[in-house]
Amino acid sequence: MRVVTSDIELQQVISELSKGNARVGFVPTMGALHEGHIQLVKQCHEENDVTVVSIFVNPKQFNNKEDFDKYPITVEQDKHMLENAFCDVLFLPTVDVVYPEKYKTVQVNLGILDKVFEGPQRPGHFDGVIQVVKRLFEMVQPHVAYFGFKDFQQCMVVKVLRNTFFPKLELRFSETIRQKDGLAMSSRNMRLSAVGLEKATHIYKALKMVRELKKHIEPFDALKYARHILTQNGIEVEYLALANADTLIESKKWLRKDKNVVLVAAWVEGVRLIDNIIF
Ligand code: PAF
Repeated sequence: MRVVTSDIELQQVISELSKGNARVGFVPTMGALHEGHIQLVKQCHEENDVTVVSIFVNPKQFNNKEDFDKYPITVEQDKHMLENAFCDVLFLPTVDVVYPEKYKTVQVNLGILDKVFEGPQRPGHFDGVIQVVKRLFEMVQPHVAYFGFKDFQQCMVVKVLRNTFFPKLELRFSETIRQKDGLAMSSRNMRLSAVGLEKATHIYKALKMVRELKKHIEPFDALKYARHILTQNGIEVEYLALANADTLIESKKWLRKDKNVVLVAAWVEGVRLIDNIIF
């Protein structure tokens, strides 16, 4: 695996490895890698000639300074995991490489996407995601890029970015990878104690319960029960809602198969976790 830190070096290594017209796949990450990332990297390796992974903890997408300061950094372990997952190029840019002096912030009309759920809860977050993903796509110039559905709303935002600036780029979104107990893999799980990890398993249990209750009761009551399960287990719910999986418009009624998405953001031991279920 080649490790590069500048955009010039990155392009040199990619063109050296791809010898002309090879397909370049890209997995952007903020490091603190877990099995969810590794599945994306392996899929990327299977589907492309050159696999590029970036690790960059993007300051612009953190609306909460404490969350940024406490974001886990495990670069040496990440490198080891990436080698084993057949990553060809690890891009480790600094803030100056991603946001050089001449860099101009872009504006993208996200419609309702930054006005619901994560949008109002994390002001500026999606704007930060737009800036960094656009810069990374410009520097890596991939044919295809990989993201996980755990960040469901982010996947929809990235789709808008692609449609606006990179119409030829293919996007692949992958299922959330879960621990055996159902907890969605997340870098933030590293900040939880054993007790917190156990508590956090109730998040997916609550989501599955909503899916199950669809056969019996209306969304309002199903969500009320699920919220109850979470609070009973010491989890503070920020939002828990049903929406249309295509538009992210909140829904008071059950929708057609595969259109229901229940999204949750919840706090365990001072750590903010998100998850979702589609059915
Ligand atoms: O999902 C993430 O890890 C980040 O939001 C991303 C896409 C790497 C941009 O910083």
